[in-house]
Amino acid sequence: MKAVCPGSFDPITLGHLSIFERAAAHVDQLTVLVTANPNKNTGLFTVDERMELIRRAVEHLPNVDVDTWGGLLVDYTTAHGVDALVKGLRSSLDYDYELPMAQMNRRLTGVETFFLLTDEKYGYVSSTLCKEVARYGGDVSGLMPDHVVAAVREKYRALDSGEKA
Ligand code: PNS
Repeated sequence: MKAVCPGSFDPITLGHLSIFERAAAHVDQLTVLVTANPNKNTGLFTVDERMELIRRAVEHLPNVDVDTWGGLLVDYTTAHGVDALVKGLRSSLDYDYELPMAQMNRRLTGVETFFLLTDEKYGYVSSTLCKEVARYGGDVSGLMPDHVVAAVREKYRALDSGEKA
């Protein structure tokens, strides 16, 4: 079975990585798909930077690759023969957000979405919250892979000093 984990991943957290590791154990091939528009740099990291941070984080997972897509998710899954989407669920907030997307995607092409419940260690971890904490100098080690913690620190340092980040 080929599966895709889609998301903005700006940047990847240990919560995301835990979902990739668990999903990869159940499928033949897992693609982590950064579904941002590469022409719009709206996040902290560019799409290329996000993909590189993910690639380093999944080096130990031989059946996981990384790709990007700027259109409808179901067009990607159809074009690449992907059987299923995999998402992590932290709470009922995620469920409410994910339910209509899963139903819409299934209506469009029949693609199924499988949900994995987030490991309780990472139930409160999000890219947004980690960025906010790091932005004001808080410690996010243990919540994102070490190289991502370093990249976030460097990004804010460069932004604060007026360098092109
Ligand atoms: O990082 P997120 O917010 O969890 O990612 C949501 C994402 C990117 C998976 C969703 O917005 C998406 O599927 N985008 C691709 C465009 C698309 O197919 N939209 C219709 C979804 S029903």
